Amino acid sequence: MPLNNDPNWWRQAAVYQIYPRSFKDADGNGIGDLKGITSQIPYLASLSLDAVWLSPFYPSALVDGGYDVDDYRDVDPKIGTLADFDELLAGLHNEGIRVFVDIVPNHSSNLHEWFKEAIASEPGSAARDRYIFHKGKGANGELPPTDWSSHFAPSAWTHESAMGGKHNYWYCHLFAPEQPDFNWDNPEVEADFLETLKFWADRGVDGFRIDVAHALKKDLSEPLRSQPTIDTDEFSAKDGTGVLFDRNEVFEVYRTWRKLFNQYDPPRVAVAEANVLSERLSLYASTDTLGQAFDFRFIDARFDARHFKDAVTKALELANKNNSSTTWVFSNHDQIRHATKMGLVQTVNRRDWLLSDGRTHPLDMVEGTANALAATLFILALPGCTYMYQGEELGLHEVVDIPEDQIQDPQYLRNHKIEKGRDGSRVPLPWTKSGSSFGFGTKGAHLPQPAWFADYSVEAESGVAGSPLEIYRKALKLRRQLQSAEEITWHATKDPEVLHFSRPGGWNCITNFFGHPYAIPTGEVLISTKPLQNNKIIAGTTVWFKS
Ligand code: NOJ
Repeated sequence: MPLNNDPNWWRQAAVYQIYPRSFKDADGNGIGDLKGITSQIPYLASLSLDAVWLSPFYPSALVDGGYDVDDYRDVDPKIGTLADFDELLAGLHNEGIRVFVDIVPNHSSNLHEWFKEAIASEPGSAARDRYIFHKGKGANGELPPTDWSSHFAPSAWTHESAMGGKHNYWYCHLFAPEQPDFNWDNPEVEADFLETLKFWADRGVDGFRIDVAHALKKDLSEPLRSQPTIDTDEFSAKDGTGVLFDRNEVFEVYRTWRKLFNQYDPPRVAVAEANVLSERLSLYASTDTLGQAFDFRFIDARFDARHFKDAVTKALELANKNNSSTTWVFSNHDQIRHATKMGLVQTVNRRDWLLSDGRTHPLDMVEGTANALAATLFILALPGCTYMYQGEELGLHEVVDIPEDQIQDPQYLRNHKIEKGRDGSRVPLPWTKSGSSFGFGTKGAHLPQPAWFADYSVEAESGVAGSPLEIYRKALKLRRQLQSAEEITWHATKDPEVLHFSRPGGWNCITNFFGHPYAIPTGEVLISTKPLQNNKIIAGTTVWFKS
């Protein structure tokens, strides 16, 4: 199916996130690569996707799974070459699948040429001004300049001596010390990112996912302000005047980017990853900034009728306000897989459960996968853009018991080990029921795969009626007929555990969460995540039908 020039293609797209190093390993080095993805284009096409989003594949020491970028305009030799990228892009476009790449503008890696130059340069030099260097506190500058904390380490400041610097300065990093933050008040930084965006857009990339889009602009005026708790700052400054996050100045950057995107035909699109108050999200998703922002309200939503209806109503209201389109997200590489979340009793503290390697509470894997499927079909029937994460189409679960000595995630390693981290959702995909790394590659996988992966493999599910994979395939194909008017009508049901809405053209979606078997109104059933029983929808099921 050839690509068209529809400038609105993204509004109701089905986008599939690929985490390249864990998707498919073609060269047998244990790390997934671009050629591996290219080899699976027929698989991706079988899912009727509108686009894929590739997490970073740039040169990187993988301290933070590739979100520590050494060079924004190249491919990591462990993953492939620029020629491999062009081949992948052409192959996907040929199947009508567009491509988002990940842009990481808040920080580079410590191995980026600019940071190496900065560390080797004098204080006050132009090279140092591209990052955030500052003198420390204390009689001899031996203490960090402020109380800012980092997502992955106690302090957002590291003394430059840790990176070989010979002066008595500290540099800022909101994530790992190997991820120094850029100084976005420096015009050279802004100009360089425009070059990067142009580089990929000129190659034919259709869209960009913007990492930590809310953190670029910081209040660096002297004296630096205090901001001790990193998580609350993200959600506290409602007026765009916080210290580190969601500052009003950041929209100037995105307005400039939008002008660049609109020079292409169709205009390039972008989606912000911005952990901000929901009322500020629309500022990132407006037509003169990035156009779209992830709405993460389903990440924590319980499999619960009231939560779901509330989340949908609020998200649609927000999107309408801005002429944007909603995004629906259950899983990504930073989150516990939603099949697992939905297989746990609702009262479990998921973070603690994960930290205990899943020992504190039982996980019902069968029910979790079934609920996740019902939840996914619920959002796939809604107007808006759905972002899915590799492996969710297999009903895959989080790997909760990765041994400590094999954990790679800095969230665990650098964060006092108080969070298990995100490796459990990043374990290489199972393609086959048996064989080396379940068909991921010929030389094993970079994170351990459990034995139960066999039953969740592409081979085990392909062609099996009612398997998660076949349900995704069928639903995504049917969904193509739904991508018309962005309207939804709620219908009253006799059971509070059952939600029913319809779309123009007679499309209906009913989800029975924990209710009694529910009689289906008259209509043609298109798909059901669990078989109907006496024409009734049982708990944990979504049905689409035409009236
Ligand atoms: C958000 C990304 O999704 C996550 O994986 C990464 O660790 C941080 N940003 C830092 O880049």
